[in-house]
Amino acid sequence: MSQTDRLSLPFETGQIAVPDDGPILALRAQPCPAYDLFPRDRFVVVQTHFPTFEALDRAGFNTSVDAPPPCSLALVHLTRSRDENRGNIATAYSALEQGGTLVIDGAKTDGIESLLKAVKKLLPVGGAISKAHGKVFWLTKSETPAEFSLWIKALTPSQNAAGYWTKAGVFSEDKIDKGSLELVPFLADKLKGAGADLGAGWGFLAKEALATNPNITALDLIEADKGALECARLNVIDARAQFSWGDVTNLHAERYPKDALDFVISNPPFHQSRKADPALGQRFIETAAKLLKPNGVLYLVANRQLAYEATLEASFRHVERLSQTSQFKCFFARKPKL
Ligand SMILES: C[S@@+](CC[C@H](N)C(=O)[O-])C[C@H]1O[C@@H](n2cnc3c(N)ncnc32)[C@H](O)[C@@H]1O
Repeated sequence: MSQTDRLSLPFETGQIAVPDDGPILALRAQPCPAYDLFPRDRFVVVQTHFPTFEALDRAGFNTSVDAPPPCSLALVHLTRSRDENRGNIATAYSALEQGGTLVIDGAKTDGIESLLKAVKKLLPVGGAISKAHGKVFWLTKSETPAEFSLWIKALTPSQNAAGYWTKAGVFSEDKIDKGSLELVPFLADKLKGAGADLGAGWGFLAKEALATNPNITALDLIEADKGALECARLNVIDARAQFSWGDVTNLHAERYPKDALDFVISNPPFHQSRKADPALGQRFIETAAKLLKPNGVLYLVANRQLAYEATLEASFRHVERLSQTSQFKCFFARKPKL
């Protein structure tokens, strides 16, 4: 049984009934066999990660980026962030009508067991099933615990210790990423014209690039995580900045034409799941080469162990390693081959 099948179990065993009326909501939704159990016209899937949102949209679901109340059944899929999970549980619970059912599904590695313990301290849990290295548990909406307003608060941007706006679940929410910090000194007074930050996160690299390059005319912050982009809007207060929710590995050609940009900066994501995976960063490099003008330049930072060199060489006529430390390497590349 896979992680995604586990959610079907309490419905198939009759421990939870699909309600006869009222909207059904899934937070952090992902294509999942259990979704076939719900009437499509009453089912809204909420997702803020762009590639997953697009996959759900393509599959014909009613998609949304926020939870529309009220609903009779709410499902929450866990992410890797404890605070985001708590926020999503409290949000889903608030969206439920009295007597509605909340179902929470997640892997052990995403902290389902400690979440179940935390929820049990606040509310009676109706049941739980352990399967496929994870758990699904459920409860009925009754009174709202006071703690839930604190849990929901983590989903609102606040300033971290370094003074930047971030929120639960975004990349490097507590501190500036060390990789981005490595790249910053190479950017000052090197960028001009129109460019993009691929995988812009909450905007640290973009903010630094704009602050140290008066000749930049426009900078598009392209990011898959809508929450991170919401924070970037608060961090990067600059008329030259644009904020685009999108998938760098699959940009729509009409919006992002080829050979259009003077520069690209990027600290690409290094994994989709828990394991480091160079394929995603390699797609970012190929996208940069497509977007850049024949004389365009790319500045990139990567974790040292990730194999990006061959993709850089295949995509650009000139590739230079700017630095290498025990953790990171920075590259400059120009003249895309594509
Ligand atoms: C290593 S972080 C860099 C963040 C930021 N540049 C900084 O300085 O902190 C990579 C970012 O890429 C985003 N990302 C992951 N997959 C993506 C995709 N397919 N398209 C766009 N952004 C993506 C992640 O959400 C994350 O914010």
